[in-house]
This record gives sequence, C-alpha cells and structure tokens, in this order.
Amino acid sequence: MTRDDYLALVDEVTEHDRRYYVDATPTISDVEYDRLAKQLVAIEVAHPDWVAAWSPTRRVGHEPVSDFPKVTRPVAMLSLDNSYDEADLRAFYDRVVKSLDGDVPVFSVEPKIDGFGIELVYKEGLLTLGATRGDGRIGEDVTANVKMVRGVPLKLSEPRTITVRGEIYMTKAEFAAINKAREEAGEELFKNPRNTAAGSIKQQDPREVAKRPMRTILYEVVDGERYASGHLASLELIKRLGLPTNAKNTGAKDWDELIACVHGWQDQRDALAYEVDGLVVKVDDFAMRGALGTTAKFPRWAIAYKFPARQVTTVLRDIEVNIGRTGTVTPVALLDPVDISGTTVSRASVHNWDQVARLGIGKGDRVLIQKAGEIIPEILEVREKGPGPAFEPPTECPACKSPLEREEGRVALMCPNRLGCPAQLLGAIEFFASRHQLNIDGLGEKLVRQLVDEGLVKDVADVFDLTVPQLLGLERFGKTSAQNLVKAIATAKEAATFSRLLSALGITNVGNVLAKPIAQKYRRLSALRAACRAKDTDGFVAELQEIEGVGEIVALHVDTFLRDEHVCVVLDKLEQRGVDPVDHVIEIKEGPLTGKTLVVTGTLTQPRADVQKKIELAGGKVAGSVSKKTDYLVAGADTGKTKLDAAQKHGVKVISEDELMALLG
Ligand code: IVH
Repeated sequence: MTRDDYLALVDEVTEHDRRYYVDATPTISDVEYDRLAKQLVAIEVAHPDWVAAWSPTRRVGHEPVSDFPKVTRPVAMLSLDNSYDEADLRAFYDRVVKSLDGDVPVFSVEPKIDGFGIELVYKEGLLTLGATRGDGRIGEDVTANVKMVRGVPLKLSEPRTITVRGEIYMTKAEFAAINKAREEAGEELFKNPRNTAAGSIKQQDPREVAKRPMRTILYEVVDGERYASGHLASLELIKRLGLPTNAKNTGAKDWDELIACVHGWQDQRDALAYEVDGLVVKVDDFAMRGALGTTAKFPRWAIAYKFPARQVTTVLRDIEVNIGRTGTVTPVALLDPVDISGTTVSRASVHNWDQVARLGIGKGDRVLIQKAGEIIPEILEVREKGPGPAFEPPTECPACKSPLEREEGRVALMCPNRLGCPAQLLGAIEFFASRHQLNIDGLGEKLVRQLVDEGLVKDVADVFDLTVPQLLGLERFGKTSAQNLVKAIATAKEAATFSRLLSALGITNVGNVLAKPIAQKYRRLSALRAACRAKDTDGFVAELQEIEGVGEIVALHVDTFLRDEHVCVVLDKLEQRGVDPVDHVIEIKEGPLTGKTLVVTGTLTQPRADVQKKIELAGGKVAGSVSKKTDYLVAGADTGKTKLDAAQKHGVKVISEDELMALLG
C-alpha cells in the first residue's frame, strides 16, 4: 500500500458517492460500497499523514443537489455505522458496555425502514419545517412536499415545540400499484420504493407529490432528554402528540435478548408492508448516549444491522424461452451463478418480452438482480453492457414451431397450439378434465402427469381409451381407484354438452361464456367443423361473427384452431370415440333479466358458473366482453381496468354481485 494507492481509493469512493447521491444510479451494492469506505477509514487511521483534505471521510454525506432553499440545523443529522453479522454486532455491544464501564444498557431494536430521512420541526404544535438530511448539517426545505405526506400531522395534539426525525417511505403494495398504473399508461417504471419516495419528496410540484402515496414513521426525538430519560419513552410521548411511530420497536435488556430479537427479525422481514434493509440497534438511555458521544459521522450509541443483501450483480448468459402449461411464452434469464442472501441463483425471471425490450438486455450484460422474500429473483437493470445485441422475442414456439401470438391487450406471448404443443400437453389435459370443463372426477394434476409420463395419454382424446388394467400398471394405483376413474370418464362423456366440450378444448378467448352461443348455433362439434371446412377463412370468420359476443379476434382464433393439423388429428379422435355431444336449443325463459345482456367479471363470492346459470334462468344472456349491447357489467373484486373503461365508454351500468342478486330477486 502506497500513498498513491490510497489516493486512488479516495477517487474511487468519491466517484461512487457521486453516482449514488447525484446521479441516483449506483453501480455497486451498498455492501460493496461499505467495504470500500471501511478500507479507506482503516488506511487513514494507519497513515494519518496521508489523509487528503478531499477524502469522502472528511465530511458527512453530500451537498444538496436541488433548488430547494437550504436550512442549517442546530443538531446534525448523523448517519449510522453498519454491521453485517453477529460478530460485528457483538463488537458494537462490547464497545458500548466497555465505554459505560461495564454497565449493560437497555437497547431499542427497530426496523430500519428503507426510505428517505426527514426532519420535522413543530413550533407550538404547528408543523413549520420539513427538511431533508442533505449533508447532515445543511438540509433542504421541502416543507410544502412533506405536508402532502399522509401521516405527517400538520398540528400536534398539544402546542409543543419539538423536532423529530424519521423516514418517509412507500409501502410495497402502493409502490406496486403505482408501477402498475405507469405500465398501463405506457410510462417508465420506478425502480424501487425507496427511490420513488426520495424522488417524490424532491419533486418541484407539491401537487405531483400528492399523487404519490407516501407515509412516514418517526424514530428519533431531537433533544429527547428534555422530555424523557430514555428513547423509547420519548417515542411514546410523540406518539401521544399524534406523530406516527413504529409499534414494532422493542426493548432488549442484555445481549441474549438483543440477539434473540435480531434473529426473530430475519423471518419477519417479509411480513412488513414496507421494505426494510436491516435493523437499528440504539442505546435507550439518553444520559448513556451522551456519555458514549459521536464520531464525525456516526453516533457511538447506535448501529445499523444490515440484513443479507438481496441485490447483487452478475452476468446474463442467455435467455431461455419457457412455455407455460397454458401456452404463455415467457423469458427466463440464465445467469452466472451468484449467492443472494444464502441461496445460489442461476435463473431469474424477466416477467415478459416487453420487459426484455425495456431493460434492453443482451448476452454478456452485467445485470443487477434482486431476490425479495419468497419471490423468484428478477432482473432489475443493466449495469454494464456486454458484447451481445439486445434479445428479440421469439416468433415461433420452441416446442412445436407454431407461430406465436400476442393476445389483444395483454403483454404475454402465447403459443396458440393448445392441443398439439408438447409443452402444453399436461396443462391442456388437466384443463380439459377440470371441474368447470368436462369435469372428470379424479383426473387431476398428479394423475395427468403419471399418465403422460407412462405414455398412456398423448392427447385429450386418449383419455377416453383408458382401461382398468392399464391404470393398474401405474404406481400406487389400486383396483378401486382404477375402476372409479374409468367410471368417471364414462360419466363425463355421457354428461358432456357441446358447449362444455368447446370450452374444454381451450381455444384462445373461448371460455364457458362464449362457448354457449357458438354451441347454440352449431349444435355439435362435427357440425362446427363441417361449417369451417365448407368455407374459406374469410367466409367462416364472417359467419362466426354473426353470433352475439363473437368479434373478429375470437372468430379468427376459432378458425385457426379448427384448421390446425395437430388439432384436427385430436378432434378426429374425439369424434371416433363418440365424444360429439349435441346441445339442445335453450328456450329463452321469461324472467327479471329477459332481454338483458350481462357481462360478469372479477372475483365473486360464488363460482362464476353458478352466477351465469342464475342469470340465464332469469332470462338474461351472459356475454364475454363489454359492448354497446351490454346492459350490465357485474364487477367482482379485482375487476380489470379494461372492462371498467369499456363499460364507461359504452355507458354500461356497473353493478356489484349484491346488486345482481337483488335484480334476480
Ligand atoms: S436513527 C443518529 N432509526 O437509516 C441516528 N434511522 O443508515 C440516525 N433509518 O439516516 C438515525 N430506520 O434515514 C434511525 N429506526 C431508525 C431508522 C433509521 C431507517 C435510516 C435513516 C438513517 C439511515 C442510516
């Protein structure tokens, strides 16, 4: 180590500071940064004569970078020293106890909220200032924006003059909702709740700030000793004044309690509504805090205990094209294996192909990945471009070579070859047999897998060939189960209607609702196929569109499906096995909904199929999509924006499930 090495490190840390504080786009993780910063401090301690006046250790934080008025505060807003494991924390504990001549203090253990530090000043009970940390001593006056933050009282319950500090943050759910809305509006997505909160509080226009759902939790009372002898008691006081504090803060009276509390938090972390990047451990007693004092940057009476990092960088090797059980084609990133919070990660999700384009990822890029809770790791951004060009979405299914499709209004790419694509075989059979389709009792996911693995079933038609002796050959399959299944298949075949069969085939966009009017027009599968054969695509699509609720997109899906050669093989087999039920024309009943067309959407308290049946019994018609012909949109929980917008556009009345039940009498 020479002085030049030291100066190079000064420059390196300075540059990382600039990227973090000024550009807000750090290129290394917090852990990596802390390692460099600690190294710098260690060198300066060992070689005091080397220390450069411009070393990042010579000041606390950075100058404010925006145009907000500056405020100079009497008590500097310090930052916290970090610890990353039990040994670090124990060293802190030992230091504290030693400095206190062997006295063991009570510690406060608090979630370290990953947000944006703020100071609030109340004069005679009124909020007079909201200021950022800035460089610790000089902050920025963001009062107008802070007033937009929910939970920041403008007036306290008593006319006190008091200064408090805390964190402005955004909950994970609110962050997700904002990003969802931005995605729908075609706007660029925010990276994480912390940046979003920080960016929002520094917005120049407070009205914009009001649109961002931020919250606050306060965790320090400046001059707390004026109000109480200890920190937790001072927080109790400000809570009574109406200031939000954290109910999760706990006291620990010795090392055993402290470490038990820390361990307890490792699993609780994900249960919180907001992001935490660790815990803060503080000496509670103010007199002891005074005795311990501070360094230029940190108090000696507190330390941050960082949870293992969940964001690391690694190299993206390739994108694998994955076909889901329902034909959704998704990108999966193949990575150089890295360790994130104790697990080795070599694959990450990229959500969809729009996301691939948005990230602009290519082979060999160094990417930042994140693993949050039980969620599979995801790629957040490119940190360094590699040699490869950006990935393009595939045009054909890697399993069956069918041209891929993009469904209207959805970002997902789909392989439309529902019945012929080997990658979708399991999903297709499972769906076919499921309760709201052909309802083959006992034919669930596990059994379907066994049947396919054993080669007994290669498509949905093969199900009708299964025999008891064949089934007895399966692992853990007894005589009774075999007989029951064969019986269930026969029963389902007997009970099948054409409309059920049609939806069970899984044609894109043709669910239980749309299958009905189509089945009503053609009466049976063989007749539908004959009608298709009798015309060209244009003619058949036009014919299908005469059916209420069937638009061009649906009609094209039906046409493509029926003309597909793999599909034809399966449908021929079904017909040969006598699976070609005839639907009788339903007489239109008179009832409270006669002449009315309804669309049912969202999650209801009763099965969708039951609701549909009730509507039909009351004389109503159920359609699949909202149009000007729709009378009511029955909106359950999580109703999509697309449906609501369509309802508004066509002046369709939106009613709840309860209101529907009232209409039905
Ligand atoms: S106490 C001198 N308590 O973490 C004491 N800070 O890395 C300084 N933070 O700047 C702060 N939760 O923005 C404290 N319960 C908590 C905290 C907390 C989050 C933030 C705060 C601070 C940063 C230090």
